[in-house]
Amino acid sequence: MCGIVAYNGGRRAYEVIVNGLKRLEYRGYDSAGVCLVDGDVKVYKQKGKVSDLESFIGSSPTDGSIGIGHTRWATHGEPNNENAHPHTSMNGHFVIIHNGIIENYGHLKTRLERRGYKFNSETDTEILVNLIEYIYLKGNISAEIAVRLALTKVVGAYGIVVICRDEPGTLIAARKGSPLVIGVGDGEYFVASDATPIIEYTNSVIFLNDNDVAIIKKDELSLKTVMNEALEPRIQTLDLDLEEIEKNGFDHFMLKEIYEQPRSITDTFRGRISADHKNIHLGGLYQVLPRLVKAKRIVLIGCGTSWHAALVGEYLLEEFARIPVEVEYASEFRYRNPIINKDDIVIAISQSGETADTLAAIRLAREAGAIVLGICNVVGSSIPRETDAGVYTHAGPEIGVASTKAFTAQVTVLTLMAMLLGRKRDIISQARYEKLISEMMAVPNKIEKILESNEIIREISAIFKDSTNFLYLGRGYFFPVALEGALKLKEISYIHAEGYPAAEMKHGPIALIDEKMPVVVIAPQDSSYEKVVSNVQEVKARKGVVISIVTEGDTIIKSMSDHVIEIPKASEIVESLLAVIPLQLLAYHIALMRGCDVDQPRNLAKSVTVE
Ligand code: AGP
Ligand code: GLU
Repeated sequence: MCGIVAYNGGRRAYEVIVNGLKRLEYRGYDSAGVCLVDGDVKVYKQKGKVSDLESFIGSSPTDGSIGIGHTRWATHGEPNNENAHPHTSMNGHFVIIHNGIIENYGHLKTRLERRGYKFNSETDTEILVNLIEYIYLKGNISAEIAVRLALTKVVGAYGIVVICRDEPGTLIAARKGSPLVIGVGDGEYFVASDATPIIEYTNSVIFLNDNDVAIIKKDELSLKTVMNEALEPRIQTLDLDLEEIEKNGFDHFMLKEIYEQPRSITDTFRGRISADHKNIHLGGLYQVLPRLVKAKRIVLIGCGTSWHAALVGEYLLEEFARIPVEVEYASEFRYRNPIINKDDIVIAISQSGETADTLAAIRLAREAGAIVLGICNVVGSSIPRETDAGVYTHAGPEIGVASTKAFTAQVTVLTLMAMLLGRKRDIISQARYEKLISEMMAVPNKIEKILESNEIIREISAIFKDSTNFLYLGRGYFFPVALEGALKLKEISYIHAEGYPAAEMKHGPIALIDEKMPVVVIAPQDSSYEKVVSNVQEVKARKGVVISIVTEGDTIIKSMSDHVIEIPKASEIVESLLAVIPLQLLAYHIALMRGCDVDQPRNLAKSVTVE
């Protein structure tokens, strides 16, 4: 899950690396470290964030135009200075940064210990760097061969960059399972876990594939497989600009990303709705569309927020396309021996495209012969590269650990898919199809309107910031929205929150309700409105405090609620996109008022590339 940045070129490597690590800090912030080559090889590392590393380094010399840096999300060994990367081999020949898990590290460690190796940390990474050194010294071979041979002995996942003290002008990068991108500049190369640290210097990138090894000198790059087969580097041009990955005047990335949603949703459907607004084209699905239209079953898989988007997708696809849909947590699906038929369509939903559980689930589905599609945000990430076809969400980089615009972009894609399949299967008429398309196109303006309620939501947040529990209730499309609202609050404010289908409340959670329990009821005027009115009454009868999300002009639920947030009237097909916005803002303000680190909540990381 960690963030990796490396540089080899004419600039001061320290600046490139530290700036890059700050952009990647969302991937982990247990510790940070750099290794710089300037005559000697210097390593600095420190528990905490990149800013702690900077204070620790202070005015120490940080010259050199080649170096590697890392921001850690610990898997093996607690976050402390010893376990921080880079790790140096026992005899000092190699320094490494690593993202991933070396699963057979225990076995390798015992073998190295028998040969006299001693370790300073509890990490799996330190075993790998010593294995490389052991092979290097024993075989009297080049650093590159030692790295490749060592990698053939490793079980697990890695994105690594290695420096050998004896060949200090060269970086060796390799990947299996964990992402790595190389930026190609003019007489300089960059390596990073994703393109965000690279983009201010160059748009030309090479995405490494599993088992690729790159040997990077200042002005020369060679690419080969771990087995020493030469590869032709494929340079791609990225369409990503710097402004997109900076805060743009907002205090936090999360707030910026919440406010970006009118634009990001437009970006998601832009170019996919025909100019006359009569049709939807999902270019990425073109080749598989005939199979999709005839699908007997669709399985949607994802984790966390992406799983919530999948739940909305289930309701949409079943209602509008009348195809049976199952929604699975990727982590459960991959281990429970699921029934996968050859004509099943499995759709993986993921913001990062790197989530380890989701990747493993799609590999399983592909082996079983299913067609696997992806709905991903990060272009060139692993899931799009390992699926048969798919749709990018085009929400732009999401930096805040709590997913906001990625969720609405995922739901937008699923909505377009449901409409398209519904029309192709003749479940919905052309007239209805066009009406639904216009509903979709009206969403961005309606979200702008909801964002105007920010102040009201901030005031409500101030009232409830010290609550210890929250309940979120919704029915139909608003049940997944309730789950998502509760997850947002939990992950950034550390308040316990649960999302429930409103009608399920009476089967248990109602016992929790008293005058201290805020209950957020998502109750726009849809087909289950009357039923939700009864659920609100049940809460009020137990003295619960109701915060309701209602359609503009609502009077019934409004009169029963303690606090009200209005959203514009819309068709049910797009209402989940609207109702989630106030919940994102509520979580944001409460977390901020509790003094929490909104963008980098404790124990979490943006991209969960470990099991
Ligand atoms: C969302 O706010 C979470 N931080 C998390 O649940 C996330 O959605 C999950 O880890 C899946 O990530 P992905 O979409 O990148 O696969
Ligand atoms: N396993 C390594 C460690 O614990 C890297 C962790 C990661 O990639 O998240 O330091």
